[in-house]
Amino acid sequence: MSLKQEPTADGSQTLYSERYGQTFHSDKGAVTESKHVFLWASGVTARLERSLTASILEVGFGTGLNFFLSADLALKTETPMTFVSLEQSLLSSETVQGLGYEEGLEHPELLTDYCQFRDALGPEPGGKQVFKFKDVRLELLLGEATEQNLGENRFDAIYQDAFSPDANAELWSETFFTKLLHALKPGGKLTTYSVKGEIRRRLKSLGFEVEKIPGPVGGKREMLRATKV
Ligand SMILES: C[S@@+](CC[C@H](N)C(=O)[O-])C[C@H]1O[C@@H](n2cnc3c(N)ncnc32)[C@H](O)[C@@H]1O
Repeated sequence: MSLKQEPTADGSQTLYSERYGQTFHSDKGAVTESKHVFLWASGVTARLERSLTASILEVGFGTGLNFFLSADLALKTETPMTFVSLEQSLLSSETVQGLGYEEGLEHPELLTDYCQFRDALGPEPGGKQVFKFKDVRLELLLGEATEQNLGENRFDAIYQDAFSPDANAELWSETFFTKLLHALKPGGKLTTYSVKGEIRRRLKSLGFEVEKIPGPVGGKREMLRATKV
């Protein structure tokens, strides 16, 4: 994948993918988007702050930003967290380190250890790879996301962070959303930055309770939260 580093409006960095013609995060602020759309809106922030364990599934590991921020909060609150993430092409440690995300972490050693783990995997890893840091467990399911076994009633939250529905259609299909619905626990929440009407209708038709809620400060006006009832 040909990637170019770009600054975003809150001062944090992102990557532009030529293959998808999009950035990995909002150009209005990568860290701001991640904390609001994924950690906060999904209920993960509230769970960890109340010392409730969190089990999270992410669609698209990318730079790992959502993982680093979630894990940093789990470490701060001393709460166990399991984070399963789907990714077809794991970025090198050099690319991740170049983004400087450790500057915003209370536990920057998390990122240093992750990069050592990444280096040990070699250039193009596949299969299931597990990284552990204190009470944080990361399971990377490497390969085509739609082919992974995601199980039933396992996750409190799903971070749907694929590229846009137009560019990355297989990760927004009815078949894939059905898998995500089964993988969520009842009451679990899937959140995403896209509020496209077609996506809202698809989620509703599968039985999710769908809400448009305010987006991050300085970012998109609205975002989507879908709850498994
Ligand atoms: C928008 S980026 C994810 C951003 C990421 N969450 C972060 O914080 O950096 C989307 C990711 O999905 C991955 N991806 C796209 N299509 C995929 C597929 N069919 N299977 C697995 N991974 C896929 C891309 O390689 C990319 O890393």
